[in-house]
Amino acid sequence: MRIIEGRTAVITGGNRGIGMATAKEFRQLGACVIILGRNADSVAEAVETIGGEALGVRADVSRLADLDRAFAEIREKVGRVDILFANAGIGRFHPVLETTEEIFDEITDTNFKGVFFTIHRALPLIPDGGMSQFSAGAYSQSTMYQLFNTPVSSRHFLAEQATLQDLQAKVADVVRLSGTQFRHIAANCET
Ligand SMILES: NC(=O)c1ccc[n+]([C@@H]2O[C@H](COP(=O)([O-])OP(=O)(O)OC[C@H]3O[C@@H](n4cnc5c(N)ncnc54)[C@H](OP(=O)(O)O)[C@@H]3O)[C@@H](O)[C@H]2O)c1
Repeated sequence: MRIIEGRTAVITGGNRGIGMATAKEFRQLGACVIILGRNADSVAEAVETIGGEALGVRADVSRLADLDRAFAEIREKVGRVDILFANAGIGRFHPVLETTEEIFDEITDTNFKGVFFTIHRALPLIPDGGMSQFSAGAYSQSTMYQLFNTPVSSRHFLAEQATLQDLQAKVADVVRLSGTQFRHIAANCET
């Protein structure tokens, strides 16, 4: 079933790991794939591996200037975003009393601020009446776990999943209410 054939899929952190595996799968299913990554060489190599005219854009999701430039390029070259996988994220694990401001900022700038503003900057490119999907791997798995070194199965992890789902549901509501016409937004959560 080629339900994403012809759709434009933007995947942050698409240069390796889960992001690149998703990009390959989406290409095979006929989507137009755009990957974002912070290292230009790594992004270029990943584009070669994914094949099928995938597009690579260098961007650090924790930097708004990078996101602005990346989505301006996507607007110019493709013009729309049907599927957004806010996948870029980091894992930094320290005992809580060894967590410095620098570590805190690195984790939250990538896994929370980065996910939020990736969605924020993509929203204007989602077509009215289009079928779009938000998915965020990074924030769900890591922020509380990394900051408090808490076992993944704990209630903190579950609380964080709930926070992500809440964030995405609210984003979906904002999109529905702010547009000039109703737009179908599926706000799914990948963990
Ligand atoms: N693997 C797991 O068991 C697991 C479980 C739950 C959730 N997750 C989350 O799922 C996502 C993918 O996991 P993974 O295992 O594929 O991780 P991974 O192999 O470490 O890949 C993470 C990707 O995110 C990119 N990235 C990190 N910070 C970035 C930034 N500031 N701007 C742009 N790109 C950035 C990395 O780029 P670089 O190459 O430049 O580092 C890389 O492409 C991550 O967010 C991870 O936290 C993973």
